[in-house]
Amino acid sequence: MKPLLEVEKLSKHFGGVHAVRDVSFTIGSGEIVGLIGPNGAGKTTLVNLLTGVHRPSGGVVRFEGVDVTAQRPHEAARRGLARTFQIVQPFPRMTVLENVAAGALFAGQAGSRAEAERLAAGYLAAVGLDRESQRLAATLTLPSRKRLELAKSLAMRPKLLLLDEVNAGLNTSEIDGALALIRRIAASGITVVLIEHLMKVVLSLSQRVLVLHHGQLLASGAPEAVMRDPQVVEAYLGARFAARFAGGDAKSEASHG
Ligand SMILES: Nc1ncnc2c1ncn2[C@@H]1O[C@H](COP(=O)(O)OP(=O)(O)O)[C@@H](O)[C@H]1O
Ligand SMILES: [Mg+2]
Repeated sequence: MKPLLEVEKLSKHFGGVHAVRDVSFTIGSGEIVGLIGPNGAGKTTLVNLLTGVHRPSGGVVRFEGVDVTAQRPHEAARRGLARTFQIVQPFPRMTVLENVAAGALFAGQAGSRAEAERLAAGYLAAVGLDRESQRLAATLTLPSRKRLELAKSLAMRPKLLLLDEVNAGLNTSEIDGALALIRRIAASGITVVLIEHLMKVVLSLSQRVLVLHHGQLLASGAPEAVMRDPQVVEAYLGARFAARFAGGDAKSEASHG
């Protein structure tokens, strides 16, 4: 079967910082793939490259067999490549419903504002935000803004959804709801790439895990095998020891690794 997404030797540098270096992988249709790595590993940059936010310094991205390397964000959305932003920035003076409707319009999934708002209402219900739909986005708590971000990306009706730390800030009981929601999204036929620092979430959802470290693909494979890989263990332990050495709190670094 042809892969949905093909990434070949993708690189991005910002001046002298090599955020992503020669990264190659494929994602098959229907997969749930975890993308992990310590802070600064290049995960968000990779998502930005795949969705047209940044132009790659080198390499090729193909989506459904089409070269999309130089696409713009709205082109990515219209093709079915949607993402959530790690740093959520809803339109603060628009309501929650209007924000999600804007996602549908951006991705060309609705012909009118009314149609976009009908679509938006359904996705707000799916993420459990329907009671907040008339509130201004600026008034939401961080976990609710993350839900809004998710509803907005779902309203783009993506084929591939890249989730950049969409569960950050949730408490343990909310995590279970988030797990169930991501499972429902995948069951609806959407291919999911999950960036997540909570290992419980990554390991219980992902069929395959990619590990980035210093911008490079360090390992990929089944979750259990990858987590036993000595290079992966060292990448994480290394980050923890470095934090302790610098006087940081090793435990908090571990939970954010
Ligand atoms: N727009 C940017 N300009 C300059 N440096 C950047 C930019 N975005 C990311 N970086 C750098 O690229 C590296 C990878 O960052 P990032 O992709 O955010 O990592 P992660 O999401 O894995 O924590 C870091 O060193 C970061 O400082
Ligand atoms: Mg990030």
